[in-house]
Amino acid sequence: MKVTVLGVGYVGAVTGACLAFLGHRVTCVDVDEARIKKLRAGHSPIYEPGLEELIAMAQERGEIGFDTDVAAAVRDSDVIFIAVGTPSLPTGETNLAYLESAARTVGAAMEPGRFYVVVNKSTVPVGCGNLVEALVRDGVMQARPEAAADFDFAVASNPEFLREGSAIHDSLYPGRIVLGSGSSRAISTLKKLYRPLTEQRFAAPSFAPRPAGMAEVPIISTTLASAEMIKYSANAFLSLKIGFANEMANICERVGADVVEVMSGIGLDARIGSGFLNAGIGWGGSCFGKDVNSLLHTAAEYGYEARILAASLAVNRLQRGIVIQKLQEKLFILKGRTIALLGLAFKPDTDDLRDAPSIQIAERLLHMGARVRVFDPIAMEACRAQYPRLQLCYCEDALSVATGADAVVLVTEWPEFADLDLMQVALKMRRPILIDGRNLFDAEKAVEAGFEYTGVGRPSRTTPSKPYHTPVTAPRPPMRTPAEPQLAAKAGGR
Ligand SMILES: NC(=O)c1ccc[n+]([C@@H]2O[C@H](COP(=O)([O-])OP(=O)(O)OC[C@H]3O[C@@H](n4cnc5c(N)ncnc54)[C@H](O)[C@@H]3O)[C@@H](O)[C@H]2O)c1
Repeated sequence: MKVTVLGVGYVGAVTGACLAFLGHRVTCVDVDEARIKKLRAGHSPIYEPGLEELIAMAQERGEIGFDTDVAAAVRDSDVIFIAVGTPSLPTGETNLAYLESAARTVGAAMEPGRFYVVVNKSTVPVGCGNLVEALVRDGVMQARPEAAADFDFAVASNPEFLREGSAIHDSLYPGRIVLGSGSSRAISTLKKLYRPLTEQRFAAPSFAPRPAGMAEVPIISTTLASAEMIKYSANAFLSLKIGFANEMANICERVGADVVEVMSGIGLDARIGSGFLNAGIGWGGSCFGKDVNSLLHTAAEYGYEARILAASLAVNRLQRGIVIQKLQEKLFILKGRTIALLGLAFKPDTDDLRDAPSIQIAERLLHMGARVRVFDPIAMEACRAQYPRLQLCYCEDALSVATGADAVVLVTEWPEFADLDLMQVALKMRRPILIDGRNLFDAEKAVEAGFEYTGVGRPSRTTPSKPYHTPVTAPRPPMRTPAEPQLAAKAGGR
């Protein structure tokens, strides 16, 4: 089928590459000329493992093109995906400006006498399917009012559930595909489009092997409003699950329990599930915050106060602050101290810094007079470009970031950090304090390496636990003077 994808960001680039890989003819269109130029040269504008390889394979298997000209691409398409950004406005509402502009352009580019399916892949508040339909019609009316009656199109919602960092895997082997529309023709067109995926009729690329036992992918077909709500409910629930683990962590710290043990203890219950129960310094990224805020706003528009959603945002906000609190507990004064941040990206395997805890932590530390050294395997270039005013000292690896530091904070759990030689890191520091914001390290090993270790929701460790030796010959009990038993009894001892 012929497909246009509008917006070539994290979602659009992956969607376009996957559909072309499955054999469709795809044109990816973006208003950002630099982005299109880079893609045409075979380079991905974002860091996403496997994306460049998939684009290269897609070029061989199907046909994938990159363009800034919407009209030429849309005119000839069967399916048009809108995958533009839907960021938050300062009020928490969704900024629909990009979506609205894209929908109008699509309408203006369509031709009479052909059936188009316009698909919202962007995450949009309930009702935006109807809004897009009206705006596409506006575009038609502006461009070809005389032939308006001959235009035939339907709008569908097909929310995206990929995770940055494993986006190719998630798109080729999704848990489900959600299709929402009032038009059965639109639904059957999209089912046909996704058939190679739902039936898994493709040879898996070497960099994204098919998971063992992968069967047919279920399609959930719903109304437009339900599909839109499914996406928001999914993100609200996932963010809530992390928030719950964080709240339990805060209680664990106070009562002397270890949240890692507690969460693995509850995660094995099939009703709860073990995913998204890692306590830490809070979730970030481009989706959770904006989507929960947007849903909260939608609920309020309908006169409903969504208390659980509000609490989920509040818990996450508080959690971001615990790094500073833990540093203050250890160092008292932060002014003039040097703090090293391991990781900047909001999660591993991406260069995405949107709503990343690292930025907020760095800003607070700088504001408090600390010096901040940072290292991230991938996101440093993005950080320099997006936050030029942050006075960060960018370092070339984990050892150099720790040099002369009063404390190291693990912010992003890049797998390579787990393999660090902690003793070498500790030796470079002025004071070996490790705040493990993601509970990545084994506390015992960190302490053995010489660190004062503090995780999230687990007891702080400064000394290795003493190995328990069973003496080969039991030592003789010490001789007691007659007064001793009375003293022991007075002190409450045994
Ligand atoms: N990033 C994720 O992990 C993820 C996951 C699921 C859903 N989503 C949703 O998908 C949507 C896109 O997210 P993203 O992270 O890919 O955004 P992004 O910011 O990475 O990309 C958006 C792209 O759209 C382009 N654009 C803006 N207006 C345009 C127009 N009129 N025509 C053509 N291109 C236009 C921008 O230049 C940009 O390249 C959002 O609604 C987001 O909530 C994102």
